[in-house]
Amino acid sequence: MFFYNKFLTFAEVSFILKIMKEQIQEILQQIEKINATNSEELEAIRLKYLSKKGVISDLFSRFREVAPDQKKEIGEQLNKLKNTASERFNELQNKLNALKIDYNKADLTRTPDPIKLGTRHPLSLVEERIIDIFSRIGFTVADGPEIEDDKHVFSLLNFAPEHPARDMQDTFYIEKQPDKQSEHDILLRTHTSSVQTRVMLTQKPPIRVLCPGRVYRNEAISARAHCFFHQIEGLYVDKNVSFADLRQVLLYFAKELFGEKTEIRLRPSYFPFTEPSAEMDITCHLCGGKGCSFCKNTGWVEILGCGMVDPNVLELCGIDSQQYSGYAFGLGVERITNLTYKVKDLRLFSENDVRFLNQFISC
Ligand code: DAH
Repeated sequence: MFFYNKFLTFAEVSFILKIMKEQIQEILQQIEKINATNSEELEAIRLKYLSKKGVISDLFSRFREVAPDQKKEIGEQLNKLKNTASERFNELQNKLNALKIDYNKADLTRTPDPIKLGTRHPLSLVEERIIDIFSRIGFTVADGPEIEDDKHVFSLLNFAPEHPARDMQDTFYIEKQPDKQSEHDILLRTHTSSVQTRVMLTQKPPIRVLCPGRVYRNEAISARAHCFFHQIEGLYVDKNVSFADLRQVLLYFAKELFGEKTEIRLRPSYFPFTEPSAEMDITCHLCGGKGCSFCKNTGWVEILGCGMVDPNVLELCGIDSQQYSGYAFGLGVERITNLTYKVKDLRLFSENDVRFLNQFISC
């Protein structure tokens, strides 16, 4: 229908010409926009526009039959189309060639750029160091859930239903009985002491475990407090375990972590699940105990809570308190990390700022 033919009317010939011109314009517009990012795409362009079976060639083959008085105009347009397509093709080809490596100039013996590795998180580094210290004296690692129930976090640890000690920790509740305390309340654990109860309920003494993990408390976030942080709980239950054993193990730990010169002191304290209970300070390793702004001029910094497992807790967890005794301790990993690396703002630990994290690359 495109071509001149003596039987076509004038109107038909005009219509055909109009379509041919439109096609030329359309292909010109396409060519303006084409791009190639690799040699396969470039070859596809060549095949579509410039090969013998391409669209431009197809238009040329129809040129023979264009009416003689229109040949000049259509011929010029077709030539322009072909030149534009060739120019665009050459342009794209040059661009791709420029991207290719010049193997004569490239130094193929050069060592490649190193692959950038991530860094160990400072909290993980410190946690691993602590686990390593305790594993040398026979402690193994135990794990427990972060979404817990009241029973394992409070009840089995001697927190009586109306005991004010429950207020010591602001708890995030997930499911809670209205107005009264229930062992079935579901909450985010507020301390890793909950893993103690799970271990005692399922294992027989001797028990010697370390329970690292994340804990949650309903606290406003600031440089000194966060709504989640990390603890490591320690538990030892056996026959004849004494407070002296606890003290000796904690002294060993403090010296291994902070250096041989480190001293410890135990101050009486209160926890519902230990009796007697204590808090442990170490000599400030920044000033060596002389007093500085970090230790508020006392020479001591607090690092953990500890005590002898309350016989009531042993019994609640199915361990005969007449036969067995035990000690427990709980430490904050952020606190120890702050002491080790002098990190002053707790929020840095969870912001994932690579400028902060990259500082631990060689630790
Ligand atoms: N669970 C306590 C807390 O989160 C820490 C703690 C204190 C754990 C004394 C213990 C312990 O095992 O004996 O504050």
